[in-house]
Amino acid sequence: MAAPMPDQQAFFDRAAATWDDQTSAEARSRLAEIVAGLGIPADATVLDVGCGTGILFPLLVAAVGEGGRIVALDISREMLRRSQAKGYAVHLVQADAHRPPLRRAAFDWVICNAVLPHFDDKQAALTELARCLVPGGTLVVCHSHSRHFINNLHRDVGGVVAEDRVPDPALMAQLLRAAGLEPSSIVDGTDRYVAVARRIGDPRHPQGDNDPP
Ligand SMILES: C[S@@+](CC[C@H](N)C(=O)[O-])C[C@H]1O[C@@H](n2cnc3c(N)ncnc32)[C@H](O)[C@@H]1O
Repeated sequence: MAAPMPDQQAFFDRAAATWDDQTSAEARSRLAEIVAGLGIPADATVLDVGCGTGILFPLLVAAVGEGGRIVALDISREMLRRSQAKGYAVHLVQADAHRPPLRRAAFDWVICNAVLPHFDDKQAALTELARCLVPGGTLVVCHSHSRHFINNLHRDVGGVVAEDRVPDPALMAQLLRAAGLEPSSIVDGTDRYVAVARRIGDPRHPQGDNDPP
């Protein structure tokens, strides 16, 4: 299991104050397109992983409606503080995605927007996040920029994010499958990256409980 991430936490705590200003109108509009394209139904339960200042909150709240439930998880207290100040009906959890303190099979959707590259152990984190999905539930890894843009950005920013990479589609598919997910599409586009995968149920456990007793 990956060690705690004090460096990443401090990095994103510092980034929180200017985070909203750094997100362009174009990126926001692509995110709206990406979320609309997912077809998240009303009443769904959704986990927003690495929620930051809550850029997805208005989109998710609109998608799930009053019958839905949104939980947002982030390692950064400052990011969460700013997301809370926006006043959306979202339950916030400060935690590391490698060790989410969440019940198994608690969510219909898990969305990792602009966070996967920052996981020290992508396989371990994806496996834990898949555990939080109901069988047949959907995990999404998305970015409102291309893989090359994000990877170059991290290289340029340097420090704790210098080596953080969006996986190429072949590696992404491998990571998803090893986490017990079946990829349905991986778009590695010029202005976005969107990987969508479903949690496979375990026939030995009709309730879909893949976890050890
Ligand atoms: C690049 S920001 C993206 C924030 C938001 N999703 C957005 O698009 O505006 C990455 C976020 O993931 C969080 N993060 C990084 N590593 C994490 C981890 N291991 N577990 C939970 N959150 C993490 C950071 O604190 C930060 O808020």
